[in-house]
Amino acid sequence: MIIANWKMNPASLEEASKLFAASRLASSSLKNTDVLICSPFIYLPALARLQRPKNLFLGAQNIASEEKGAFTGEVSATMIKNLGINFCLIGHSERRALGETNEVIRKKLQTAFNVGLSPILCVGEKTRDKEGTHLEFIKNQLKECLSGLSKKNLVGLTLAYEPVWAIGKSWTEAMNPTDVHEMTLFIKKMAGEMFGKDVADSFNILYGAAVEPENTAQFFKQGNIAGLLVGHASLVPDKFSAILKAADLKK
Ligand code: PGA
Repeated sequence: MIIANWKMNPASLEEASKLFAASRLASSSLKNTDVLICSPFIYLPALARLQRPKNLFLGAQNIASEEKGAFTGEVSATMIKNLGINFCLIGHSERRALGETNEVIRKKLQTAFNVGLSPILCVGEKTRDKEGTHLEFIKNQLKECLSGLSKKNLVGLTLAYEPVWAIGKSWTEAMNPTDVHEMTLFIKKMAGEMFGKDVADSFNILYGAAVEPENTAQFFKQGNIAGLLVGHASLVPDKFSAILKAADLKK
């Protein structure tokens, strides 16, 4: 799966519709790839009404941690589900930077499961060093975000590993695909210790941060990944189409 994270873009529904139309065109010629567009909430109702190929899906970028109640400015998982949308990102680093804690993220995952949404849990370290503290950091994120959730809900979970230090950068500054491979093994190992090998093996681990057409194929070849999460390049139709094509060929 290739996920487009539009973040707080574009500035109008007209532009969002154009961007979506370009993804629709690019997706319709893919043979092995699902595409998930995570748009700002405000465009989801209009985009959900548009025709789309079977491999093109819509998702939210966030949900409220509570299922219902007096929470001004929040959008509930049920509201998303009732639009016919089944996916949402949870715990993106830009949400974490706004104060979202692992505890809140765990609550959001539970809420997503309660209403039948498929969450994409984002994890990733802010920095790396030779001592390998990033491994401890990821282990802690996994533990705090997932502990207490039921195995039944976690089977088939999609998890996006996104090193925060590479987000928004050009492909030349992305993570090395062999390091991504190491990280996917580490995440599966940690998940295995927490929930058993069967559950861990069912996880779909994606990579995100500085994905561009130039490095897409390499991540599939060497990264041991089930897909990619694409930020800035998903806002440029030519680049996003090239990423989709490269992903579709390399599987
Ligand atoms: P980027 O963003 O592709 O612009 O690095 C990825 C993300 O933040 O999900």
